[in-house]
Amino acid sequence: MKEVNVGIIGIGTVGTGVLKILKDKKDKIASETGIRINVEQACDIDPAQKEKVISAGVRSFTTSAEDVIMNPRVEIVVELIGNLEPAFTFIKKALENEKSVITANKEVLSQKGEELFEVAEEKKVDLFFEASVGGGIPIIRPLKEMLIGNSFSLVMGIVNGTTNYILTRMEEEKLKFDEALKIAKEKGYAEPDPRADIEGDDAASKIAILSSIAFNSRVVKSQVYKEGISGVSPQDIEYAKEFGCCIRLLAYSKKADGRIFTFVRPALIRLDHPLASVKGVYNAIFVEGDSCGQLMFYGEGAGSLAAGSSVVGDIVQAARNIVQNSRGSIGCTCIENYPVASVDELESKYYILLSALDKPGVLAKIAGCFGEAQVSIASVIQKESFGDKADIVFMTHKTFEKNLRQAINLIKKCDVVDIVKSIFMVVEE
Ligand SMILES: NC(=O)c1ccc[n+]([C@@H]2O[C@H](COP(=O)([O-])OP(=O)(O)OC[C@H]3O[C@@H](n4cnc5c(N)ncnc54)[C@H](OP(=O)(O)O)[C@@H]3O)[C@@H](O)[C@H]2O)c1
Repeated sequence: MKEVNVGIIGIGTVGTGVLKILKDKKDKIASETGIRINVEQACDIDPAQKEKVISAGVRSFTTSAEDVIMNPRVEIVVELIGNLEPAFTFIKKALENEKSVITANKEVLSQKGEELFEVAEEKKVDLFFEASVGGGIPIIRPLKEMLIGNSFSLVMGIVNGTTNYILTRMEEEKLKFDEALKIAKEKGYAEPDPRADIEGDDAASKIAILSSIAFNSRVVKSQVYKEGISGVSPQDIEYAKEFGCCIRLLAYSKKADGRIFTFVRPALIRLDHPLASVKGVYNAIFVEGDSCGQLMFYGEGAGSLAAGSSVVGDIVQAARNIVQNSRGSIGCTCIENYPVASVDELESKYYILLSALDKPGVLAKIAGCFGEAQVSIASVIQKESFGDKADIVFMTHKTFEKNLRQAINLIKKCDVVDIVKSIFMVVEE
């Protein structure tokens, strides 16, 4: 029986799940692969983790990541501390030290992936990161390996469980955003400081990684346009329903005309689209390839064992590569260089909710603003009146976002308009 020794840095939520799976499934993995995976060393900044680590069968514990990276017995380093630094430095050092690296770190991959892949290639070692997107959903290696016979035109998904939970609660119980956020915090689905989730930052990292892999062209997080969900109201959700749609925080990336259009924003999705059925903290990633057609990957986007399952899958693959002397065979796949287009160039349908005076001639004035910016209206619904004002919902035909912005600027200056409450794109794919 071959043996491969692993070192794990960061024994938090995911690290604990990885230790449990490696312990519980040690014999299963060994019988299936002929490789015994040993956790040679585990590291956490908190010395109180030692007891848990040793009882999970780990040979030694340290509070210094350097010990793991420099340990000559460790062949695979697993980074599970999160955030950009010092994680990036640890990963780079481990690769430079000719260790294969497994990480679940979306920040590092979406901002500094290229630099790390260069080192991994030079040192002929593996850098795997399945758990960085979609938690327990296998999506990175399926795209890179199983689906290599495809060119992808679209990858989009619901990749943040916190925001999906909030939007689903708002939808099902007609709650306001703040009320749903409070429940999400109480249930442990939202961090005490939830900004990274609700402002789309977390999803932006994930769609940057997915885009880079799907389109074979590097997209970094800063290139992803983002809007959060705090502006979504219960009215928006109700009105969207009347158009046969739900509202989800969509992470989207499309390749068209040699350019990549990528963003994270709340969007209207048709109720008969597979992504509309993704509720609560679940995640899903929808891709469109020229050979496979449309595929959707669905599952738990977070959690100790779910994310741990992806990390363990990567560890076993890296171990196989060590045993078969084929390390580094699945490296960086960014062989193209497509520019990322400005969101202004995006062509889409849009939903607009505004409040205006409830009197004759108002609709004509607003329609004039749309017309001046060459935005064509597909439908208008006048909703409830509040005193002398009424909510009006417009649905546009396909238009460029820059034209829509121009129309909105004109509308905001229009004397019959009180306030533009929401603007969301409508997904057509
Ligand atoms: N949680 C999930 O469901 C999930 C899903 C998919 C991917 N991920 C990713 O997986 C990674 C880990 O997430 P997590 O939820 O497991 O985080 P976590 O619970 O905060 O665990 C991180 C652990 O690393 C320790 N740590 C921090 N800095 C360290 C250092 N310099 N040296 C050694 N240990 C250090 C932390 O100790 P202290 O607590 O004392 O700081 C903590 O025990 C992140 O990149 C995350 O984005 C998480």
